[in-house]
Amino acid sequence: MEIIIYLAASANGLISNDRNVPDWLSPEYGQGFMAIAQQTQAVIMGKTTYNILSPNYLPLKDTGSLVVLTHDTKATPSQSNVLFTSDSPEKIIADLVAKGHTKAVIIGGTQTVSAFIRKGLVNEIILVVEPVLFGKGLPLVNDVEAEYQLALLDVKRLNDNTVQLHYVVKGQH
Ligand SMILES: NC(=O)c1ccc[n+]([C@@H]2O[C@H](COP(=O)([O-])OP(=O)(O)OC[C@H]3O[C@@H](n4cnc5c(N)ncnc54)[C@H](OP(=O)(O)O)[C@@H]3O)[C@@H](O)[C@H]2O)c1
Repeated sequence: MEIIIYLAASANGLISNDRNVPDWLSPEYGQGFMAIAQQTQAVIMGKTTYNILSPNYLPLKDTGSLVVLTHDTKATPSQSNVLFTSDSPEKIIADLVAKGHTKAVIIGGTQTVSAFIRKGLVNEIILVVEPVLFGKGLPLVNDVEAEYQLALLDVKRLNDNTVQLHYVVKGQH
């Protein structure tokens, strides 16, 4: 199972600003977000991210699996392919494999990305770097003890000001 993180970041590596308004995201980030969800058909996110996207901006409508980490697993999902779960990252991946998925994309936020990184379960990271600096906001990961070595697979200029960095996670030490 290939686990890919897809995130937008400021030039100083933060994934949200203090205002918590996503007006700094390029259309190219949004297009990439929809494309990778379609390609993997399995999307993992935290409940805070789900609350921002649901019901109108979730990346898959009727097909595939949308896995949402939450302790409130009895909540009513906004569509039938949403699964609320408090399972471990390992169990979430095992269940996606059992459903026939071979790839999944984690779309945020910090807590969810960190939970999978911490367990060493992430294979690739796609970072869309937007032309903005935030003084305050959420980091890409937090409370992760290990250092991870990345290899740069690809760099793409998405528009005049936005680049996409595609990394493979080589290992930790
Ligand atoms: N730049 C980007 O590409 C991007 C993408 C997505 C989101 N974001 C930003 O990221 C921010 C949200 O990030 P976040 O770290 O605060 O939240 P998050 O990861 O989206 O969601 C956190 C919530 O997920 C649930 N959760 C997390 N780990 C869990 C676990 N192990 N077991 C069960 N439930 C778990 C908890 O929900 P319950 O409280 O319901 O239990 C927790 O409150 C937003 O500001 C958003 O704008 C940025």
